[in-house]
Amino acid sequence: MKTIAVKTGRPYHIQIEDGLLRRFPELLADVYGNRKPALAIVTDDTVDALYGEPLCRQLADAGYPVCKFAFAHGEDSKTLETVSRVYDFLAANSITRSDVILALGGGVVGDLAGFAASSWLRGIDFVQVPTTFLAMIDSSVGGKTGVDIPQGKNLVGAFWQPSLVVCDPHTLRTLPEETFADGVAEAIKYGAILDGDLFELLESGDLQEHLEAVISRCVDLKREVVEQDERDKGVRQWLNFGHTLGHAAEACSNYTLPHGRGVAIGMVMICEACEKAGVTPKGTATRISNCCRRYGLPVSTDAPLEILCKSCMGDKKRTGSKISLVVLEKIGKAALYPVEAKKLYSFLAGERSE
Ligand SMILES: NC(=O)c1ccc[n+]([C@@H]2O[C@H](COP(=O)([O-])OP(=O)(O)OC[C@H]3O[C@@H](n4cnc5c(N)ncnc54)[C@H](O)[C@@H]3O)[C@@H](O)[C@H]2O)c1
Ligand SMILES: [Zn+2]
Repeated sequence: MKTIAVKTGRPYHIQIEDGLLRRFPELLADVYGNRKPALAIVTDDTVDALYGEPLCRQLADAGYPVCKFAFAHGEDSKTLETVSRVYDFLAANSITRSDVILALGGGVVGDLAGFAASSWLRGIDFVQVPTTFLAMIDSSVGGKTGVDIPQGKNLVGAFWQPSLVVCDPHTLRTLPEETFADGVAEAIKYGAILDGDLFELLESGDLQEHLEAVISRCVDLKREVVEQDERDKGVRQWLNFGHTLGHAAEACSNYTLPHGRGVAIGMVMICEACEKAGVTPKGTATRISNCCRRYGLPVSTDAPLEILCKSCMGDKKRTGSKISLVVLEKIGKAALYPVEAKKLYSFLAGERSE
């Protein structure tokens, strides 16, 4: 078992191993000792059908009072209305401040259940069992929780660290290939911004053979960044590589384009522009593009650049008149590159401007 200790304001462990869910009660005992807090499982209907009942049984057998709430799967459920239904469920089951919310599922479940945990009784413990590749390597690390509102994605939320994260790569075997690929885009991103060796491994197509090691490496990289910058002000911005344009591509598709696919497109587009501007070495965009395509990820969009740029202007990461782009000095090393918002179009179009 690989254990990664995250030393944020509230330290916790991320445990990673194939088949680890079978040992879940043991891992809980490491955190709670002999105490058996009530476990309020929050999940979605798809994950519930696959893993909900066996997990409930296993935890109940180990002596934990267990209750469960499943909502309809998908981003459309990541709303305040669902949070409100979670509060009803917590109230109905008399969940107190010494109890625990257990998030079983992908990033949607993790974000929503984490937000409910941050706000229920002004904050209770929260344990994550991520079941998508993206949730394992990205959303379950760093303490960002939240929901979408009609005005935009993830606009309401809180920083709230879990008390334990349990990653069992075995659960990824039931994941649809396309959903798996969305997570791969984020792994490629980690390699591109922080770790050239990881990038090369992904580039060689050897992901499945090294799945556990790749998850551990990605988690560790995000941990390092988050520890340095828990509140998202400096190096953590590197994690937005490919995301400014990626979010724009997602928005332009009315969110029919999944996040990972948007990120793949965004990484390639920004590298192409940076190569033209002499910021990123030539050939970088092609390497990223080939790597993404290996895993079935798209690398371009039909959305016109003007429209994408407009969408970038509303990006949360914008500061004043400048947009802070994350660029690559080379594969494995990112940097921030501020561009005047009004020059964004010409930069991305590869026009030289003075
Ligand atoms: N908090 C953060 O730092 C952070 C970072 C990145 C993304 N996110 C958020 O994460 C969300 C996306 O996460 P996601 O891609 O995991 O989406 P998701 O949670 O919607 O899961 C994708 C689909 O896979 C299904 N699924 C999950 N696990 C499964 C399994 N083991 N087998 C079969 N099916 C399974 C789900 O039911 C769902 O239909 C977005 O809302 C995004 O905003 C948060
Ligand atoms: Zn992302």
